[in-house]
Amino acid sequence: MKVSIIGSGYVGSVSAACFAELGHEVICIDIDEEKVKQINAGIAPIWEEGLDELLGKYSQKTLIATSDYDYAVENSDASFICVGTPSGEDGSIDLSIVKAASASLGKAIAKKDHYHVVVVKSTVVPETTEKVVLPIVEEYSGKKAGKDFGVVMNPEFLREGKAVYDFMHPDKVVVGAIDERSSFVVSELYRKLECEITHTNPRTAEMIKYVNNSFLATKISFANEVGNICKQLGIDTYEVMDAVGTDFRIERQFLNCGAGFGGSCFPKDVKALIGKANQIGYAPELLQSVVDVNNRQPLKMIELLQEKIGELKNKRITVLGLAFKNDTDDIRESRSIPVIDKLLELGADVAAYDPMAEEGMKKIFHDVAYCKSSVEALQEADGCLIMTEWNEFRNLDQEFAAMANRVVIDGRKLINPEKLSTEIDYEGICW
Ligand code: UDX
Repeated sequence: MKVSIIGSGYVGSVSAACFAELGHEVICIDIDEEKVKQINAGIAPIWEEGLDELLGKYSQKTLIATSDYDYAVENSDASFICVGTPSGEDGSIDLSIVKAASASLGKAIAKKDHYHVVVVKSTVVPETTEKVVLPIVEEYSGKKAGKDFGVVMNPEFLREGKAVYDFMHPDKVVVGAIDERSSFVVSELYRKLECEITHTNPRTAEMIKYVNNSFLATKISFANEVGNICKQLGIDTYEVMDAVGTDFRIERQFLNCGAGFGGSCFPKDVKALIGKANQIGYAPELLQSVVDVNNRQPLKMIELLQEKIGELKNKRITVLGLAFKNDTDDIRESRSIPVIDKLLELGADVAAYDPMAEEGMKKIFHDVAYCKSSVEALQEADGCLIMTEWNEFRNLDQEFAAMANRVVIDGRKLINPEKLSTEIDYEGICW
């Protein structure tokens, strides 16, 4: 089959490369000429494990990039909207890029004389596909949804860093279509994956995505809440969760307590679901608590540090880990951001190290000493906060000897002080 993919960010470029791997002909559409050139040269516009290989394999063969909507729509059966849906000022979802893409798509569909399917893959709150995208495409194409073109909401469940693997090995594919014809077209695209397809309507598909992410976020905040109680009682929360997680109804994953969740999805999606609920007159207390616990959690690390070393003014504090999780350079909603912000507000001298994410953080904080290694960051430090679950931090030991005062607050349970040869004053955030 032939598909076009609008937007070459993390979801768009991964979907494009993976559809090519599934044997389809793919046209990437991006308004950014640089990205178009990059993709046509077989270079991935973002870093994702396995993406470069796939683009190299299919670029200029069954995968091309263009900024020409008319060409892409004319030469494909379906177009996937994979553009960003950032949070607006009040936390609600900003649909301006989705709307612009829908309008461009509508104009191109106006010139096409056969059936085309519009697929929304961007994460959008329930009702958006039917009440925003569909009418815009109808308006700009002058055609009728369900007759001249189809509409489907097909959410993604891709983890950053593992997105290619997740696309090729989904535990579910959700096809929320306005009618059987468009549902059939999109289902066919995934046929080779041989996985269960959930056929539903667009608003249910939109909701499935939000509930999936909000539930995982809820598990983490639940683990953090329990962790805060366990800490007071001298109980190791990880031991508790290891046992609780053996119950197949609960499952162990996403019960690691610590500094909380960050990233481009969880914080944004939980807030957007709350925003949507508020809009229809329901105030979701549990979801609000998920956000509140997550906001409090990183600052707890500073409180623990203050309990150990007192006032932080003019103290050198090392922040290890800037990325929102390991194996990525993404700092969006990273828990290290509120921590650095607070440390600077309290007058601390902040030194930071991250194996990949230094560049992004430099754009946010200028008054931080960015270091090239953990040991450099730990030199003469009065305290250290471990923010990201990077594997290399698990092996820290002798490096702590460089500190002036060996206080280590661990936000990810990476260090076992009993196994170290260097003596440190260790405190886990919730264990
Ligand atoms: C997530 C979802 O997993 C994915 O399905 C969705 O489509 C996009 O959002 P991602 O943002 O890449 O993926 O990160 P993930 O690996 O899920 O971790 C999210 C955050 O939660 C990280 O900050 C991580 O440190 C934190 N986390 C995760 C915990 O604090 N505890 C846990 O037990 C698990």
